Amino acid sequence: MAPHATNGDSPSSSSAFTADVVPQAPEDPLFGLMAAYRKDTNEKKVDLGIGAYRDDNAKPWVLPVVKEADDLLRKDPDLNHEYLPIGGLVAFNQASQKLILGKDSAAIKDQRVVSLQTVSGTGAVHLGSAFIAKFYTPKTAEAKAIYISSPSWANHNQIIDNVHLPVKTYPYFSKETKGLDFDGMINGLESAPEGSVILLHACAHNPTGVDPTREQWTKIAEVMKQKKHFPFFDCAYQGFASGSLSTDAWAINHFVDQGFELMIAQSYAKNFGLYGERAGCFHFVAAPAGNAQDTVARVGSQLAILQRSEISNPPAYGARIASLILNDEKLFAQWEEDLRTMSGRIKSMRKALKSHLDQLGTPGKWDHIMEQIGMFSFTGLNEQQVGRLRSEFHVYMTKNGRISMAGLNRGNVEYFAKSMDEVVRGGT
Ligand code: LMR
Repeated sequence: MAPHATNGDSPSSSSAFTADVVPQAPEDPLFGLMAAYRKDTNEKKVDLGIGAYRDDNAKPWVLPVVKEADDLLRKDPDLNHEYLPIGGLVAFNQASQKLILGKDSAAIKDQRVVSLQTVSGTGAVHLGSAFIAKFYTPKTAEAKAIYISSPSWANHNQIIDNVHLPVKTYPYFSKETKGLDFDGMINGLESAPEGSVILLHACAHNPTGVDPTREQWTKIAEVMKQKKHFPFFDCAYQGFASGSLSTDAWAINHFVDQGFELMIAQSYAKNFGLYGERAGCFHFVAAPAGNAQDTVARVGSQLAILQRSEISNPPAYGARIASLILNDEKLFAQWEEDLRTMSGRIKSMRKALKSHLDQLGTPGKWDHIMEQIGMFSFTGLNEQQVGRLRSEFHVYMTKNGRISMAGLNRGNVEYFAKSMDEVVRGGT
């Protein structure tokens, strides 16, 4: 339950943390939405809020391969609850490198990658941001900021702000086309001070579901190279977006091939369905150079201190499950099948929603629902329409018009389309 505001301004207050020092913070929009949905007793309610996969019965889905790995783990007589090393489970980190960079990666062969297991993707974004805050010294002070896309995952803002780095934005989404504002993005990158840190969504952009094409990524890399910008990839949906692990990692590997020094935050929440187990990995990749191994050794040593001071060492369970699957050929193949199941169901829901809207003749253009990719669709519904969907139709989604496609299923997609149709016709 959210703590209540107290009258901290009273002179007789016994707390050092009066309201002028510690004002009441707003509830987290996503977790608040989740709680409101749970409280709603209407049987028609639809949860399109938090980005977590649901099956066709609107239930959380434990991946069959995760169940199998979990069984194996529980039966292991040697399993114990000792601390992991500061950097996490070594077999997990190594497999994570191969997954994101490819098993034949030149960067791995050259030993210019250092990886630490983190508290999911959030922990990895934090670790990278904390490292930038402490050690990054661009030529000008104004370049010491992290640029995020406008819009971006709301938590990016807080994570970066928390390590006292300025958050700046580059244009990303076009309200007119409901696609990428590519020219705006390129201009934004060109006008950012040389050597800025640019946070990029590797695939399945959150919240818009809009990704650059390969051609556009190529241009983005060119501009970033000219401007000596530092890429920081957030990869939360590898394999989940397209159903192909290598397709979803293409942008990262293009940048690595171009010789960038870069960082990657890798989450296993969505693609393994290990949301609450907090399995993730942070990678620092040095540029190909004679002293690259020395660079990663030094960087790795400082990352280890940051990690030790904040979480000491990462949680073991989720990483053990992921590691078992990543390091076993048969389980890995089954995982790929499970990924195709999730991405396939989401794609079929995009189709179903679009075709219901077409049948209803809902005013507006809805092609973007099919064009966007991954967990989310940025519908273009405005805040008032989102409010009506919630109060009249018991449909829960974020105020910016984002829907989690995984919350739709064969049982509720028509109801949602009809609700959408009504609020769109409402003229607000
Ligand atoms: C989301 O954007 O809904 C997810 O990434 C969950 C989260 O932690 O915000």
